[in-house]
Parts: sequence; structure tokens; C-alpha cells
Amino acid sequence: MKLGYIKVYVWLACVLVANVILYTVVMLSRRPLSLQTPRRTMFIGGHMKLWQPMDLHGLPLWHLLKLYMAQLDNPILRNVTAQFNLMLPGTCGESFHGASQKLADFSSYPSHLQAFVLSMHCRDYTLLIGPADDKACSDGTQLLVAVRSQLANFDRRQAIRQTWGQTGLVRNVTVQTLFLLGRQGSGDRYPDLEALLQLERRKNKDLLLWDFQDTFYNLSLKDILFLGWLKGHCPSVEFIFLGDDDVFLRVDALVAYTGSLNATPQRGFFTGHVIQDAAPVHDSKHKYYVPESFYQGTYPPYVGGGGFLCSRDVATQLYEASCHLPLFPINNVYLGICLEELGLVPQNHPGFWTFNMEDEGQEDLCAYKDLILVEHRKPQDIIRLWRGLHDPALTC
Ligand SMILES: *[C@@H]1O[C@H](CO)[C@@H](O)[C@H](O)[C@H]1NC(C)=O
Ligand SMILES: *[C@@H]1O[C@H](CO)[C@@H](O)[C@H](O)[C@H]1NC(C)=O
Ligand SMILES: *[C@@H]1O[C@H](CO)[C@@H](O)[C@H](O)[C@H]1NC(C)=O
Repeated sequence: MKLGYIKVYVWLACVLVANVILYTVVMLSRRPLSLQTPRRTMFIGGHMKLWQPMDLHGLPLWHLLKLYMAQLDNPILRNVTAQFNLMLPGTCGESFHGASQKLADFSSYPSHLQAFVLSMHCRDYTLLIGPADDKACSDGTQLLVAVRSQLANFDRRQAIRQTWGQTGLVRNVTVQTLFLLGRQGSGDRYPDLEALLQLERRKNKDLLLWDFQDTFYNLSLKDILFLGWLKGHCPSVEFIFLGDDDVFLRVDALVAYTGSLNATPQRGFFTGHVIQDAAPVHDSKHKYYVPESFYQGTYPPYVGGGGFLCSRDVATQLYEASCHLPLFPINNVYLGICLEELGLVPQNHPGFWTFNMEDEGQEDLCAYKDLILVEHRKPQDIIRLWRGLHDPALTC
């Protein structure tokens, strides 16, 4: 072979190798996009080619925002503002009016969902009340029980404090209970409860209250504000329970369960009542209505309403994942979406009952013996259950 030919081949080979390297570098730098699981979000992540313009007009808003947020992390990609034409407001004070231009049927959204969309770009809310000068968990708390409550639910919080939410030692594990609140101002047609709130705050020192409107569709916000707060607090905490203020939680059973897990510190742990293969409800009168113009596809596995238990590392990772994912109006689903992004699968635990027991079962205290959590209990039921289960005469 002539020397000239060899030079040409070597040169071609070099160009080929250079191309492969360039392609690899570019693909790697797009990692957040390729993290999308193909099954559920195929129509965004799956067939999107590099540098190829894509018709984004038909994409539901949530998926569009997810793409937008993924591309914000990838400065080498296109100018996302120009590409998506989303007109996201730069500050929390402004509303996301660009959404109503993207969503042809925005005016048919229920008003709460409209309010959610208009403020979903904002996560930056001040913590107005924190527990006792940031002395939360100063006693080396190992299990943190965080309860989503609402300002007006004084009776529920007090029932929890008097029963399962007692702070202190449970089976030699230090447990602390905190309540998570948003604002319910008189402007939202709520009575002015400020004086009561201040009394409760001084007396119990177990409240966290942020400056956002405490509504059902703002619960995802509440969850991530709490997880963000936790990053900088309570370093001794190994496990976190996060749940609602109408549950009956058997903290002793929870502690026994965490104690039975062999690896310490526990990593990648997230458990509750797992719901599989759920999809958005398209009935506009339903509480969980999510329009097709907002989200399409099924939901990843998520845990039901009452509450879940996770290890510290997962709480931190969930917060970090949420920074790259647009908020979702249903908080349990949102946590499922964050878990999926992290490649984690929630584990089902039969002790978490997020649906009601049969009526006759409610009276049989022994039926509660194997449970960790039951949902939808009134304060009186919580106190009755607690007394019953702690009655020395109870034999099961
Ligand atoms: C991206 O596009 C927007 C809208 O066209 C423009 O205002 C902005 O300056 C561009 N940013 C960059 C970095 O080119
Ligand atoms: C409880 O914890 C303390 C300190 O961690 C330890 O010294 C003690 O042995 C524990 N008691 C039981 C019954 O496990
Ligand atoms: C959530 O809270 C923000 C801040 O207070 C408010 O602007 C928004 O309307 C609330 N969203 C819903 C769905 O209530």
C-alpha cells in the first residue's frame, strides 16, 4: 500500500474517533434528560434527537416544564427560553400567566388548579415560625415525626401531642414530633387565629410555618419546604415519618420496625402503602382531577395519603430531585415522581393502612395490634384508640 493511502486511512480513523468522543461527551452532558424513564415519558424523552427541533406545542404543560428544567441544567444545549417560549416569571411575586397561553383549556381548569399553575414556578417561601429557636432535635432525635397540619386544626394537633405524638423516648429511641403549617390569613376568608397560634407556639415549640397559602394543591410545596428545612437541621435523625394530622400512628411499632432493619445507617429506604399503576383522574369534579393538557401517562408507584417512613439519605435526595422537577398538584404523586427520578422504588408495608377499616373492625382494638398507621381518625377516635391500646387489661 502506498504511504499516501495509509495517511488518508489514519486521518479518517482519527476523525471517526474524534466524532465518537464528541458524541459521547455531548450525550453524557445531557444526563438529566436521559434519566427520564422511557415507559412513562416516552413521548418526551424517548424520541428526542440531539439538536433536532421538536414540536413542543402538543406537550402537556408539566412535561414541557420538566424538559425546561432539565435543559436549564445543561448550558451547552439550546437557548431554552427562546425554544419553549414559556415566559416563566423571574420572581415569586409574579404569576405564571404564560401558562394560560400554553394551555388552550386553562379557563376550564377548576379555580384551585388555576391557582396552582399560576404559582407553580415558585418554591421560595419564608419560614415564619420555626421550632424553639432552632433547638429542634437538640436531644439527639433519631426518629423525626413530621405531621402536615393546618392552622385551624388545633384539636387534631393537641390529640396527637397527648397520644402517639409524645416527644421523648420510645423503646429507647429518641422521637420528636413537629407540625408543618402554611398560612391561612383572614384574606383567605379564615378567621384570625393569630393569637391562638402564638399561644400554641410558645407552649409547645413544635411548629414550622411557612409563608404560603395552606391548600390541598400546595401540599407538594409543604413537603419539599420541610425536606429542604431538614437538610440544615436535625443531623442526628436517622428516620423520618411524614404524614397527615388525621392518622393514628403506632410509633412503638414504627420504632420496633426500624430497629429490626439490620443495616445502620439505613440507606435508600422508603416505605408506606404503595399504590401502583395509577393514572390521572379525568373527571373534572374529582378531588384528584388532573387535565390531559397538564399531565399525560400513568403515575409512578407512590405511597398513599396517610404517611410514609424513609431514611435520612432519601429525604435529602428527594429534596434535591425536587429541584429539577416541576411541582405536581397531588403531593403523594409528586414524591413518587421524585423517587422515580432517583431510581428508587417505594416498598409496600402491610402495616400502613391508608384506607378505612371495616366498621366493626374499628371497635376491635386487637385489629390495631399489627398496624403501624390508620387514616381518617377524628381526635376523639385517636384518644380512644390510644387509651384502649395502652389498657393493661387488653389481651389479644
Ligand atoms: C434566549 O432567548 C431569549 C428570548 O428570545 C432572549 O431574551 C435571551 O437573551 C436569550 N438568551 C441567551 C443566553 O442567548
Ligand atoms: C438504651 O440506650 C442507651 C444509650 O444509647 C444504652 O446505654 C442502653 O443500654 C439502651 N437500653 C436498652 C434497653 O437497649
Ligand atoms: C399556594 O401558595 C401561594 C403562596 O401563598 C399562592 O400564591 C397560591 O395561590 C397557592 N396555591 C394554591 C393552589 O392554593
